[in-house]
Amino acid sequence: MPIITNIDDLKRLHKRRAPKMFFDYAESGSWTEQTFRENTSDFDKIRFRQRVAVDMTNRTTKGSLLGTDYEMPVALAPVGLTGMQNADGEIKAARAAEKFGVPYCLSTMSICSIEDIRQNTSAPFWFQLYVMRDEDFVDNIIQRAKNAGCSALVITVDLQILGQRHKDLKNGLTAPPKLTPKTLLNLSTKWSWGLEMLGTHRRTFRNIVGHAKSVENMSSLHSWTAEQFDPALNWETIAKLKENWGGKVIIKGILDPEDAKEAVKAGADAIIVSNHGGRQLDGALSSIRMLPKIVEAVGGQIEIHLDSGIRSGQDVLKALAMGADGVMIGRAYIYGLGAMGEKGVTTALDIIQKELDTTMALCGKRNISDIDRDILLVPEDFE
Ligand code: FNR
Repeated sequence: MPIITNIDDLKRLHKRRAPKMFFDYAESGSWTEQTFRENTSDFDKIRFRQRVAVDMTNRTTKGSLLGTDYEMPVALAPVGLTGMQNADGEIKAARAAEKFGVPYCLSTMSICSIEDIRQNTSAPFWFQLYVMRDEDFVDNIIQRAKNAGCSALVITVDLQILGQRHKDLKNGLTAPPKLTPKTLLNLSTKWSWGLEMLGTHRRTFRNIVGHAKSVENMSSLHSWTAEQFDPALNWETIAKLKENWGGKVIIKGILDPEDAKEAVKAGADAIIVSNHGGRQLDGALSSIRMLPKIVEAVGGQIEIHLDSGIRSGQDVLKALAMGADGVMIGRAYIYGLGAMGEKGVTTALDIIQKELDTTMALCGKRNISDIDRDILLVPEDFE
């Protein structure tokens, strides 16, 4: 077992352990992957101001998201097919989040269901909704999330139409994998993954099976999504969903100040500045680059969270200093899960918290609420 000191180590182990088609599913961006690459490289362009001789005896990374206190203002992002990276992956990730003290967000496109998470954890979790054409399905899943006591509905608005990821098409991605010569080759060298999967029956999309139309005939994730997801989704739909839900709503996938203002009008309690981890509009700017303009447009009215590209506690600190109230991590915890299951997710969270704590201290900050733009050196042409 290699010594794990950073998120990149977890990524390498994930790659070694998981079948290629599932690692590729996590690691890819759409088309040329320009946005996917820039999500991380743009963070590297922002630098810190080192400050010294500030008493750092009492300091904390604790922060709040939507009125609830957490160990740090970092949530686990909704990630489809999490349970194919590691058996019962959603349950393992939700457990790790609960024990650590950060929120977990379950994707519509999960292997484990809303009810599976409720039975295996006790903390309230967030539920992420993909709006499907089938209105009965949407009403039903919202009701199930209410019954499970979910504390926020995260409505994803940047995937009415699916951005193409070449690797998924080439790998013939389905869940569970169909056994063809190509997929057998893809799965064949990963014995430990295979043995673990044999121990669970949760190998299809349990949130939607039996509800959404034609999932049983799913030919590929790409064509199935095109059939099911509602291309007509608009701000009126979102206002209606908010009414139907009756609780806190987070709009995920905002990358433009005008859309951020619309989200406020539609009644959002928070937005997530996101380009879906570079998996949708290739050529869009990175979330961190768009954040300042969005903060300027809506700052103070509702909470602004950010995801896409966060791989370290330093990145978390940069996002907070640029004006985010909180962040979500996607791949950073998925690498941990794919590498070592629940322990890997905890390791990812530990790494990020330690990096955040140390970097805050070296910038002269003891509390999340003290973090401001002053700790950064941002290139003039960044915004
Ligand atoms: C995602 N994301 C995502 N978002 C969502 O709203 N519902 C979903 O089902 C999924 N599924 C999904 C699968 C995989 C493999 C990835 C990598 C991402 C997007 C996710 O919530 C988040 O926006 C990104 O992961 C953030 O980027 P980073 O942190 O992965 O760079």
